Amino acid sequence: APNIPLANVKAHLAQLQSIASSNGGNRAHGRPGFRASIDYVKGKLDAAGYQTSVQSFSYNGATGYNLIADWPGGDTNNTLMTGAHLDSVNAGPGINDNGSGSAGNLEIALAIARESYKPKRHLRFGWWGAEELGLIGSSHYVDTLAAAERSKIKSYLNFDMIGSPNPGYFAYDGDGSSGSGGPAGSAEIERVLRAYFTSINVPVEDTAFDGRSDYGPFIEYGIAAGGLFTGAEGRKTAAQAQKWGGQANVAYDRCYHASCDTSSNINDTALDRNDQAIANAIWTLGGSGDPDP
Ligand code: PHE
Ligand code: ZN
Ligand code: ZN
Ligand code: ZN
Repeated sequence: APNIPLANVKAHLAQLQSIASSNGGNRAHGRPGFRASIDYVKGKLDAAGYQTSVQSFSYNGATGYNLIADWPGGDTNNTLMTGAHLDSVNAGPGINDNGSGSAGNLEIALAIARESYKPKRHLRFGWWGAEELGLIGSSHYVDTLAAAERSKIKSYLNFDMIGSPNPGYFAYDGDGSSGSGGPAGSAEIERVLRAYFTSINVPVEDTAFDGRSDYGPFIEYGIAAGGLFTGAEGRKTAAQAQKWGGQANVAYDRCYHASCDTSSNINDTALDRNDQAIANAIWTLGGSGDPDP
């Protein structure tokens, strides 16, 4: 996989912060800052050659949106989808939750275009609306897809909070080594997501694969899934601070769902490591469309 420039990811986060600041301080469902966030991401993808579409839905008396972006080419019967929720809570700008996953996925999508990557599998990206109100946008997407289209999505990668200021390094437990695991194929996804961290000697812990983010609606349909996470309201233990650095007995993200989840609420090292791990996974799972030498 190519390097994913941290400066580019941070520039996207600065734009999302600016969108929130000029729209009442948030990017929440039904608020103008959410629609402006969709338009920002869509503009970048359109310019890079993606086929984009905005899916509207109605929830709580407001219109919500999902942005879907397809990279032309690859086997559409074996689609690899990667997603992140783009909405914030009402309380703040949502830069770690989930500007981080949204900006990381965006920059990886742009790197795919810059590299003219020709994967074996078809690649699709999704930016979800109204996650914070109960996975509304991602549920709407999978529930309204025709069954034949849904069955072409063979794997789903989810990134929600990947730059927490006091970071942990967590992978969704798709192989069930510390819980019940996920649909067939989820174990391989977990292994591939962990591989980059192994290569840089950063230990990774399992986190619950319990549906607390937008992969939930996908695994309900038996789609293999996985993802990474740097922690929310939970507190880093002394043992975790030993191995990862940072502050023991302090939340991974003290600004979780708060007004202080701003541009300064990001650990650059964690964000960069997660972006590289995601890119490594997409290039590994996407495969090469070039014939073997
Ligand atoms: N989905 C949670 C939120 O947006 C965050 C979260 C992500 C929690 C992944 C657990 C695992 O608030
Ligand atoms: Zn989130
Ligand atoms: Zn949240
Ligand atoms: Zn595991």
